[in-house]
Amino acid sequence: MDAILEGKRRIKGEITAPPDKSISHRSVMLGAIAEGVTEVERFLPADDCLSTVECFRKMGIDIRFDAPDKLVINGRGLRGLKKPDGPLYAGNSGTTIRLLSGILAGQSFEATITGDESLLKRPMGRVVEPLSMMGAVIEGACGGKYAPLTIRGGRLRGIRYELPVASAQVKSAILLAGLYAEGETTVIEKHKTRDHTEIMLAHFGSRISAADGEVRLTPVDKLSAGRVTVPGDISSAAFFMVAAAINEDSELLIKDVGINPTRTGIIDVLRKMGCDIKIHDERIQNGEKVANLFIKGNGLCGTTIEGEIIPRLIDEIPVIAVAAAFAEGETVIRDAGELRVKESDRIKAIADNLRRFGADVTELEDGLIIRGGRSLKPAEVESFGDHRIAMAMAVAALSIPGVSKIKNAECVKISFPDFFETLGKVSE
Ligand code: S3P
Repeated sequence: MDAILEGKRRIKGEITAPPDKSISHRSVMLGAIAEGVTEVERFLPADDCLSTVECFRKMGIDIRFDAPDKLVINGRGLRGLKKPDGPLYAGNSGTTIRLLSGILAGQSFEATITGDESLLKRPMGRVVEPLSMMGAVIEGACGGKYAPLTIRGGRLRGIRYELPVASAQVKSAILLAGLYAEGETTVIEKHKTRDHTEIMLAHFGSRISAADGEVRLTPVDKLSAGRVTVPGDISSAAFFMVAAAINEDSELLIKDVGINPTRTGIIDVLRKMGCDIKIHDERIQNGEKVANLFIKGNGLCGTTIEGEIIPRLIDEIPVIAVAAAFAEGETVIRDAGELRVKESDRIKAIADNLRRFGADVTELEDGLIIRGGRSLKPAEVESFGDHRIAMAMAVAALSIPGVSKIKNAECVKISFPDFFETLGKVSE
């Protein structure tokens, strides 16, 4: 499906952010290995999270949808998963394959996990290495670098492991394997990544603590089912934040957004670029911070984004790059080489597409330089099969007078199935 978008001038109104993808995945995984019934409210029924649901169904977990966004998971306990009768399919979802690898490392059966064409190209050595150190036997393509992964779990031992790349998926895989290990498991991270796994593990009764850049987990006999209400996804809200920020006279209220401090780099950066963002009604939901955000559009200026903030906004860089193209002056993004191994090579995808809109962009090995302030023109751009590229480019298209086309835009269903309808509702 191609999306045809006409440039508008203002974003006005109110939306509710769709449920958080990272937290939705974790609710299924922990619900499945907890004892008892876990009810999940505001689950994200998008393709990535549905891949996680299907993987656990294949391992004998009864998961029922009471409504499109309400899940009931009959947890069978830490040792209650069954050997699947064929490969588990993670689709496009890095979170599914990497976190699930951690859980499979602790099982007494062998299972294979695979995914779509994009997932088969993404690095898996980063989970294979620590899980093997814990005692799992894992085979993968090219000597364990890529999926499909065949994981033979067994008796694991806790490890102390410093993450070589800032990755919440790797951290989470190790912690989930740590549930099955003998002794304590410690993950050391130089730059803090999203801590939803830690928060939810604590919510389900595990013994976990974090301090001074170290996360420690001690195994418990069981996890207890818990009720989970998933906050809105700041990574999905980000497209609307930028749409409002770059179109003058815009005023947008985004309700129920998760503002876990490990995810709020987008707010810090947009404010630094001159955007007026107000945070209202802060509250805590299952240990996660939630709030309403009010964004007012006015002119933006360029900025530098590097170092410790990168993991706090890694998924938002495609749309931040769009904001930079509409800002006055230069924006430099560095230390973001991880973008090359996401659902697409996002550095290349952003540079190619923004140039088609007429922006002045230099590609760096680990980032981008964008010189803003040029007048942009409508264009035909490519999603590269990557949901966040499609949505970021839709925000650009909406902000340029004339008609633009985003090719193969159906991939938005990976994380935000109603994206185009929501965009249509608030643009005038
Ligand atoms: C995620 C972690 C991040 C992020 C991804 C979701 C998670 O990936 O980019 O979209 O749910 O843990 P990495 O951990 O690979 O950086």
